[in-house]
Amino acid sequence: MEQVQNVRILVVDDEKDMTRLLQRTLEPELGCRVVMAYSGDSALSILEQESFDLVICDIRMPGMDGFEVLEKIKQLYPDLTVVMLTAFSNVESAVKAIKSGAYDFIPKPFEHDEILFKIQKALERSRLIRENRLLLKEKQASSHELVGTSGPMQKVYEQIHMVAQSDVTVLITGESGTGKDLTARSIHALGERKNQAFIPVSCPTVPEHILESELFGYKKGAFTNATRDKQGLFQEADKGTIFLDEIGDIEPSIQTKLLRVLQEKEIKPLGDTKVKKVDVRIIASTNRNLKQKMADNEFRQDFFYRLNVLSIELPPLRDRITDIPLIAEHLVKKHCLKMKKDVRAISEPVMDLLMKHQWPGNVRELENVLVQGILYAKEETINLTDIPLSHSDIRPGSAGRTDEKLFALSYKEAKERVLQKFNQTYIGSKLSMNNGNITRTAKNSGLDRQALQQVMKRFGIDPKDYK
Ligand SMILES: Nc1ncnc2c1ncn2[C@@H]1O[C@H](COP(=O)(O)OP(=O)(O)OP(=O)(O)O)[C@@H](O)[C@H]1O
Ligand SMILES: [Mg+2]
Repeated sequence: MEQVQNVRILVVDDEKDMTRLLQRTLEPELGCRVVMAYSGDSALSILEQESFDLVICDIRMPGMDGFEVLEKIKQLYPDLTVVMLTAFSNVESAVKAIKSGAYDFIPKPFEHDEILFKIQKALERSRLIRENRLLLKEKQASSHELVGTSGPMQKVYEQIHMVAQSDVTVLITGESGTGKDLTARSIHALGERKNQAFIPVSCPTVPEHILESELFGYKKGAFTNATRDKQGLFQEADKGTIFLDEIGDIEPSIQTKLLRVLQEKEIKPLGDTKVKKVDVRIIASTNRNLKQKMADNEFRQDFFYRLNVLSIELPPLRDRITDIPLIAEHLVKKHCLKMKKDVRAISEPVMDLLMKHQWPGNVRELENVLVQGILYAKEETINLTDIPLSHSDIRPGSAGRTDEKLFALSYKEAKERVLQKFNQTYIGSKLSMNNGNITRTAKNSGLDRQALQQVMKRFGIDPKDYK
């Protein structure tokens, strides 16, 4: 008999002999632990304190009977598997138990093999439910993790929580790589539709003539290759959420059809004469300036206002520099797991550069830089030589990581820190321009070679980092 380790079963029966018999049968055969309760009340209080994989409950008990216990359990722990013990002749109550949510019933007196078989089947169900829940959790945790504590991000979290409570259409705007996808998934995951489908549609990657049939489906014979009926994505998303990613790029003809979905909550498959009702929450995103597109007559105004009931604007990375260390560390952890590398730190000069870099591609670009850093890192730390960023790409007037802490230092220390930064940036940029060549860098900076070397030594600048 297959042993099921760490499994806990709660047996509820006022007949002590019966509970002991079950314990003696199940514990050695299944290697599980059996806890006994002699009344419905005590079963419920045990369940409050400990979690179980299975409850075996007698129907006929004084006080709270088995049906009441079953009802309470289904209310409080809807996923918990319950098997009822019934008198052999009482088919009616067995049927009633199944109808009330019991997974199975065992007639008393029972056969040794029969009960083991039924209990194993019931435990298998619990295991599947548990695994599914874990998978779901893992998926949720890995896919929607917006990180950052800056003011602009806090505003974004607030908006996400607010719109998640309702069903209104949301338009997410923001430059490329600012987290529009993550935001849409978070809204879905925090709302009432979280256990239903989330269907993302990347509008620009689907050719225009296919987009319509993809979204709305078609009837057999609607066009030459339509050999059978096909459900559209809106129907697939029924009861859930559809995410129309990069909606700024779709043609006005499809905008018109989408407008109807937004207004009437119904779709018309191609070649069909009837409309179909759909219950879908719509989230859309764009990195385009839709107001400009409206002015150019490329985006329908009525469609825009229907889409833009609520909007969330994602701030570019340059407006939340203080989030960079946190996001960078989060991304390094995430990708180390995926890439099975053990990189634990980002060196101070790298972090400094990350905070000063111009990020036209925002978080996605930062992510790409770090993935390369992880790949090239020889030890536990990502160093300057591991990342594909040069000192010449820094934002004009950018403040580094250490500048925030400057005022906590004494005058002398602060001056030294600023000098350090200045030299690192200035000499660093010159070195990168000259591929780490000291003679050329010296010439290019109006210093003699020896003076440059002294400065580099004093401020710990290694020309190898700039090759
Ligand atoms: N605030 C954040 N915290 C952590 N990771 C983030 C954050 N914002 C974005 N990312 C990561 O950056 C990458 C880009 O994010 P996402 O795909 O959500 O952005 P997007 O705006 O849809 O980008 P694009 O315009 O390229 O479609 C993803 O890998 C995502 O996990
Ligand atoms: Mg996207």
